[in-house]
Amino acid sequence: FTPKRLAGRKVVLTAGPTFEAVDPVRAITNTSSGKMGYALATACARAGAEVVLVSGPVALAAPAGVLRVDVRSALEMRAAVFDALPAADVFIGVAAVADYRPLQPAEHKIKKSGDTMRIELTPNPDILAEVASRPDAPFCVGFAAESRDLDAYAEGKRKNKKLPMLVGNLVADGMGGDDNTIALYDERGRHPLPRAAKSMLAQEIVEHLANLLAPAGRE
Ligand code: PMT
Repeated sequence: FTPKRLAGRKVVLTAGPTFEAVDPVRAITNTSSGKMGYALATACARAGAEVVLVSGPVALAAPAGVLRVDVRSALEMRAAVFDALPAADVFIGVAAVADYRPLQPAEHKIKKSGDTMRIELTPNPDILAEVASRPDAPFCVGFAAESRDLDAYAEGKRKNKKLPMLVGNLVADGMGGDDNTIALYDERGRHPLPRAAKSMLAQEIVEHLANLLAPAGRE
């Protein structure tokens, strides 16, 4: 691992799930553990970057040398990202952000009844798409977690959100565990990596993005 490839760079990352309140004790969420995002934050810090990690609720300790900002919902995550964004060189969206939130969370705990229940959902803002479409956008790296047709969906997301780089994984490979199988997508195509620990893959991702960031580092 080439050290200090990101010296002098500021990196903002999102990690973990978001919690979208249904009532004071219930939420819509997903099973992201935060491990991939925390591994990447660690790798960025080890590569010399100033790192701000905007994290949904996870059971992980903040990596050494990383400023962690805790959030719950997608709206809180968006606000924390935009607070951290000034002077950022790189933004990496690893979080599994809930695409929808309950339109009107109940103020008090919803009581059980024998009836069926409907929860009306409204779309959350797409944080990565918003960051990437800014005129002063940092270098943006997206993630795509898919349950099938990974290559087509991943490359579609990269192009739709106008991202120079995206990391694709299957939910069954990457969500929750310590290992992952990923492919990197950029303007030059698809670069699959062998299955490995998330800590190792994080270093490969940092190498790849450092090569794309610095014109002098391009092959
Ligand atoms: O946390 P782990 O257990 O280690 O699992 C890792 C992971 C599977 C969560 C991770 O590797 C991963 O794939 N993260 C992205 C999951 C995801 O929600 O992907 P998506 O295809 O729904 O979103 C595409 C991209 O847009 C992502 O970079 C996401 O952070 C971003 N996004 C999505 C929706 C939204 N409202 N705002 C966003 O910023």
